[in-house]
Amino acid sequence: MCGIVGYIGAQNCIPMLINGLKRLEYRGYDSAGVGFINSNNEANNIKVKGKVADLEAAINGNELECRIGIGHTRWATHGIPNQINAHPHSNKENTLLLIHNGIIENYSVIKQSLLKDGYEFKSETDTEVLVNLIDKTLKKKGDLFQAVRFALNEVEGTYGIAVMHQDYPDQLVVAKNGSPLVIGIGENENFVASDVNALIAYTSKVIYLEDHEMALVTKDRVKVKTISDEKIKKEIQEVKLTLSEISKGGYDYFMLKEIMEQPESLRNSLRGRLLEKEGISKLGGLTGYIDRIALSKRIIITACGTSWHAGLVGEYMIEQYCNIPVEVEYASEFRYRNPILSPDDTVIFISQSGETLDSLAALKETKRRGALTIGLVNAVGSSIARETDCGVYLHAGPEIGVASTKAFTSQVIVLALLTLLIGRRRITSPQDGVQIIKELKSLPEKVEEILKLNNQIEKIAENFVDADNFLYLGRGYNFPVALEGALKLKEISYIHAEGYPAAEMKHGPIALIDENMPVVFLAPSDSVYDKVISNIEEVKARGGRLIAIASENDHKIDGLVDYSIKIPNTLRMLMPILNVIPLQLLSYHIAVKKGLNVDQPRNLAKSVTVE
Ligand code: F6R
Repeated sequence: MCGIVGYIGAQNCIPMLINGLKRLEYRGYDSAGVGFINSNNEANNIKVKGKVADLEAAINGNELECRIGIGHTRWATHGIPNQINAHPHSNKENTLLLIHNGIIENYSVIKQSLLKDGYEFKSETDTEVLVNLIDKTLKKKGDLFQAVRFALNEVEGTYGIAVMHQDYPDQLVVAKNGSPLVIGIGENENFVASDVNALIAYTSKVIYLEDHEMALVTKDRVKVKTISDEKIKKEIQEVKLTLSEISKGGYDYFMLKEIMEQPESLRNSLRGRLLEKEGISKLGGLTGYIDRIALSKRIIITACGTSWHAGLVGEYMIEQYCNIPVEVEYASEFRYRNPILSPDDTVIFISQSGETLDSLAALKETKRRGALTIGLVNAVGSSIARETDCGVYLHAGPEIGVASTKAFTSQVIVLALLTLLIGRRRITSPQDGVQIIKELKSLPEKVEEILKLNNQIEKIAENFVDADNFLYLGRGYNFPVALEGALKLKEISYIHAEGYPAAEMKHGPIALIDENMPVVFLAPSDSVYDKVISNIEEVKARGGRLIAIASENDHKIDGLVDYSIKIPNTLRMLMPILNVIPLQLLSYHIAVKKGLNVDQPRNLAKSVTVE
């Protein structure tokens, strides 16, 4: 959450800051600001409540020419979204400017002590406490880098920060703990950002900071140390990301582009990973670990939100094909409940961003307790990818829309590959392995078929724009899909929605059903089809408005439901990949018809780097 950019070099920094903030806006969009040192060598800032476009409008006409600057797009934690709470924050003299992503947990203790020293505060933020703490230290130490370092040693919490001072116009100081920070290396110029999306228009060479590291960035040098003052030699890495991958490419919204990209993202997740004759998968990132994984006494899958839903699908798959007990845990719960772990356990961390704070904290706790850790991560070079023992990249490509779509389907397909790899060492026969591979290979084309139903789904959506509630029901592998369908709808359309196992309906939710309640059933022609049909009858008898996602050859269902969306069939374990696509499109169209910005839903941010 919150996006950070910074520039130091020979060019005017303002265009880079604005461009970088636009690329990071998915991280937060309630207010934005830039700080800079102008041609008179004075530090200044411009901040607005609202989006980066509002900031751009506020800057236009100022004709700023600055060689050093920082920019921020905010997702509020402490203090409401307004101009005063927007970043950068500054000291009283407005000479020291700071942008921050994260939370300073002991800010109120530090604030009390600063108040005693005569410091005053304009905002309600924890960040203003940090900038004043650095100011106080700087006035004693007289060195910007050291002042930041000393101040950070007093701070508890998480931060990705960038700091500048008008008396040090050739220095940008950055630091990281728990929130991502990457330095872009240019020619006679250097950049900083919370993720590489903001940098790739300028450079492909980057240095990732690790927790408790900080850097002094000048236009031609980057010096990295720990906050306990140890020197560190960092490797410069090459980012393989193109601008077209992070552009809307003619679509109105990133979400729609990403839904439509799924045939390709699934192909990319599978590429080079199938050994067809042997009926097994090949996952290079697990080399050297697979024996230990296959011998695990227990597998725990940990994640948040949509990634947690993918984890639930993984649980069904691994138990069915590998015969290893699996538990799926919300990372936020797992990390706080003294989990029982042993070296015989394997813990899988699923994350699109690779930066979700709760998942990262759960990862650190797991490593402390000696279990093996695997990362299933989309964002290359992200913290979870770097900190797990081994892992598999999703290769879904950058996901910018706040509602996760293609990452979910790639997470499920990678879980299927992992299941195949482990299962073939345990109970899955070569014949079953070959069959799974055949079905995996057919998925991208089947997804293409489903995407052709976009117009039909858009028409169905028209009937539900005014709904206040929705229920999503599915059994077995489709229960997590019901949860995911409900999450997609509520997060972008603000319609209350719940997902349930279809059989649970009778134990409570059925009381909600009347002629105003739309109910979406996941009803593929599989072994529980008849049971799902009984549940559909139960809803119909109570007047509910019915939508069914059903198999293409199912004609019986048409007589039962108001709207049916027919899709190709596949193995039960892979059905979630197909069934979720109509649900993504349904949510998208309902939200767009309500006039909402689906890429930037209220109160949300893409990468949740606070607790
Ligand atoms: C929902 C959504 C979130 C994320 C969750 C975990 O559409 O995107 O629920 O799935 O915040 O994020 P990652 O996967 O980045 O760890």
